[in-house]
Amino acid sequence: MFRRVLVIFCLLLSLFLSSSAQTCEIYDFSSNKVFSSCYNLPCQNSFLHWNYNSSSGSLQIAFRHLMLTSRWAAWAINPNGLQTAMIGAQAVVAYQLTNGTMRAYTSQIKSYATTMPEGNLIYNVSDLTATYANNEIIVYATLGLPSDTTTINQVWQEGPVTNDSPGAHSFENDNTISFGTLNLLSRQYARAAKFEASSKNLHGMANTLSWGIVMPVGVMIARYAKVFKFEDPAWFKIHVICQSSAYVVGVAGWATGMKLGSDSTWVEYRGHRILGILIFILGTFQVFALVLRPKKDHKYRFHWKICHYSIGYLVILLAIINIFKGYDILKPQKTYKNAYIGFIVALAVSAVWLEAFTWYVFLKRSESAAKKPQG
Ligand SMILES: *[C@@H]1O[C@H](CO)[C@@H](O)[C@H](O)[C@H]1NC(C)=O
Ligand SMILES: *[C@@H]1O[C@H](CO)[C@@H](O)[C@H](O)[C@H]1NC(C)=O
Ligand SMILES: *[C@@H]1O[C@H](CO)[C@@H](O)[C@H](O)[C@H]1NC(C)=O
Repeated sequence: MFRRVLVIFCLLLSLFLSSSAQTCEIYDFSSNKVFSSCYNLPCQNSFLHWNYNSSSGSLQIAFRHLMLTSRWAAWAINPNGLQTAMIGAQAVVAYQLTNGTMRAYTSQIKSYATTMPEGNLIYNVSDLTATYANNEIIVYATLGLPSDTTTINQVWQEGPVTNDSPGAHSFENDNTISFGTLNLLSRQYARAAKFEASSKNLHGMANTLSWGIVMPVGVMIARYAKVFKFEDPAWFKIHVICQSSAYVVGVAGWATGMKLGSDSTWVEYRGHRILGILIFILGTFQVFALVLRPKKDHKYRFHWKICHYSIGYLVILLAIINIFKGYDILKPQKTYKNAYIGFIVALAVSAVWLEAFTWYVFLKRSESAAKKPQG
């Protein structure tokens, strides 16, 4: 039993980890700049986007680097080769000053002990700017390369900023392998926006259906079917079928959500994402709780019940909140949102009626049970 649980857990974990890998292909620049090529750099959470005109040698780049605190980031071309990746690098450097202004400048790296002083490169550089938002620094620049250049040696790096000056980068593994050759004519991609839009819709539909509709209905069945004298195994089976099928669809929907989240910037829709992860964890816990439930006469059955009920209601509540958060992001046609609001209201009204009826039946039954011994 525990082996099976472990296998499921590992599967889910690998799903989560693989879906949290970043890709540059569907990144939208808030500046509305469009780049026809991009490359997910293999380390340091960095991405290079570019447009290249080989006949003029004009290379327009956007170098993105994700970081949790404000640090410097640099991207460079090293015309001397990569034996000494750093020495001879023609770098564009950017970081945020303490007053909030972004500093972006060019620097030739001449020694390992460089402080990256400002200086001209061997290339013409224009349109050099930088932004820092959403834990992401982006350096934009246009470089004039010798025409007909196709392959460059690129180097990228990041490090701390102290007193508005860049400090030496660390020599952790990631900082020593951040270079490579790049074919400027490769890595073209078609805009994947359409795909993204359709997977967003799919994510919205799958999660509304599973977490938002089938699961609450499954909870209602479990709570109220007993009152209508369903056979014990019958309502239980329906409840299990509802919740587990909803869970399967819901996890698929959740995984597309994780993928979508990782394809956009980290912190976009942070609330929706964190809530989604929490719901997934609690939902998974509920599935395990079902598998591992103690027997009816077990002394922990009562505790298990309280746990299962309260987490169940919590999951439904959080799921509904998150579905509305999702609608705010997706902005579907009003009818979809209204239809779901209608469903929730109908569900709530029926729950109130059924609850009242349950108490009525319960009191009636205990009344007649109380009468019987006397009669
Ligand atoms: C590329 O550069 C050449 C030479 O400057 C120019 O004539 C051409 O229009 C440019 N192509 C694009 C797509 O900008
Ligand atoms: C921030 O400081 C830099 C250099 O000290 C200066 O050039 C810039 O104008 C300052 N920005 C603001 C908004 O004060
Ligand atoms: C740099 O740009 C200037 C002005 O646009 C131009 O005159 C010069 O030839 C360019 N230099 C190189 C090396 O491309």
